[in-house]
Amino acid sequence: MESIFATTFTQTTFLSPLWPPSNEVSIIANFSHFSFSGRKFAAPFSLKVQKQLAIGHSNGQAINSAKCSATLSDTLSQTSTLADIDWDNLGFGFLPTDYMYVMKCARGESFSKGELKRYGNIEMSPAAGILNYGQGLFEGLKAYRTQDGNIVLFRPEENALRMRAGAERMCMAAPTVEQFLEAVKETVLANERWIPPTGKGSLYIRPLLMGSGSVLGIAPAPEYTFLIYASPVGNYFKEGLAPINLVIETDFHRASPGGTGGVKTIGNYAAVLKAHTAAKAQGYSDVLYLDCVHKKYLEEVSSCNVFVVKDNVISTPAIKGTILPGITRKSIIDIARSLGFEVVEQLVSVDQLLSADEVFCTGTAVVVSPVGSITHKGERTSFGDGKVGRVAQQLHTALTRLQMGIAEDNMDWIVKLK
Ligand SMILES: Cc1ncc(COP(=O)(O)O)c(C=O)c1O
Repeated sequence: MESIFATTFTQTTFLSPLWPPSNEVSIIANFSHFSFSGRKFAAPFSLKVQKQLAIGHSNGQAINSAKCSATLSDTLSQTSTLADIDWDNLGFGFLPTDYMYVMKCARGESFSKGELKRYGNIEMSPAAGILNYGQGLFEGLKAYRTQDGNIVLFRPEENALRMRAGAERMCMAAPTVEQFLEAVKETVLANERWIPPTGKGSLYIRPLLMGSGSVLGIAPAPEYTFLIYASPVGNYFKEGLAPINLVIETDFHRASPGGTGGVKTIGNYAAVLKAHTAAKAQGYSDVLYLDCVHKKYLEEVSSCNVFVVKDNVISTPAIKGTILPGITRKSIIDIARSLGFEVVEQLVSVDQLLSADEVFCTGTAVVVSPVGSITHKGERTSFGDGKVGRVAQQLHTALTRLQMGIAEDNMDWIVKLK
């Protein structure tokens, strides 16, 4: 069996459901080396692989879909051999890694046991709740490789809690905090070779919770799938730490009182694609949304929270159900206070924003991103002469030193995986 895996896989075959070319195959194999894009790598651990091939047809074309599941054996022998990619030019694009984590449960029951599987496509009923009624949530967190060779997560229990809050809002079963943390750890360690070298980026971890069971009439799905995949990433904005240019959206709104703006449900993101795409086409980095009632108070940016600095006071929109309670936002508030800034969570008007000394955004993906200009109703207001603001720089440094394990973790925010 080992020889099967010792042969060369191209990237496509490795991730493709088309292998092996027989109708039904069930293999139990232990192997320690495999090839990827023509290069050999040590497998991160001893694996038991079960492959099943299912063949379907659509429009006369055969669709082969192999389900390939891999479970970690007890004897983890990890490798630190890095994947052979251009680590210096990582953006925020999707790059598939080796493994994903999958766990399922029926409505009204609890998640019990999940497993690591080879990363690949998943099968779902066309009548799945997530596909028809948007019953889905996602999370986003990062794993960093530290200078001393450890791998660390930043406040992952906060993501677990936020997913649970979202699941309650969306009538979904959710993993416990412990199950979430264990699944994240397993996924990160299984994909260890995809964690960028220190200082070159991070492994972005994407937990999904989906109503995967079939429904026809509107109702919570009868089955839920919790899945985690990961991708190495660099900067979210091409600007990196250089200031970004935002445009205030006056026609479209991201959320409304009583809606789902405060949870990380998938529909919130589909709803901003039109405004986001238009802004990008006009050369803006992102969109800043306003409240839909008064149309004058700041909410947030498509994937991050916003902060406004005036003198020594930092203001940010209060959490009131229409904006996402960002984990970076919460951390930055604590860090800023510990550095002596006054931080207020309140209504922040467009006028207040445009007369600010500095503006910056926070989020897992964007970290702390200074804002260089804001365009409102065609008028552009600039901040900081194109330079990174003093406060944003200070907070960015403090946060990233903590996240990368350089500064002492006085807050107890870091989870070490090794
Ligand atoms: C709409 C929105 N706001 C804010 C954030 C920032 O949240 P966090 O700091 O937890 O990444 C995100 C990112 O997940 C987001 O999607």
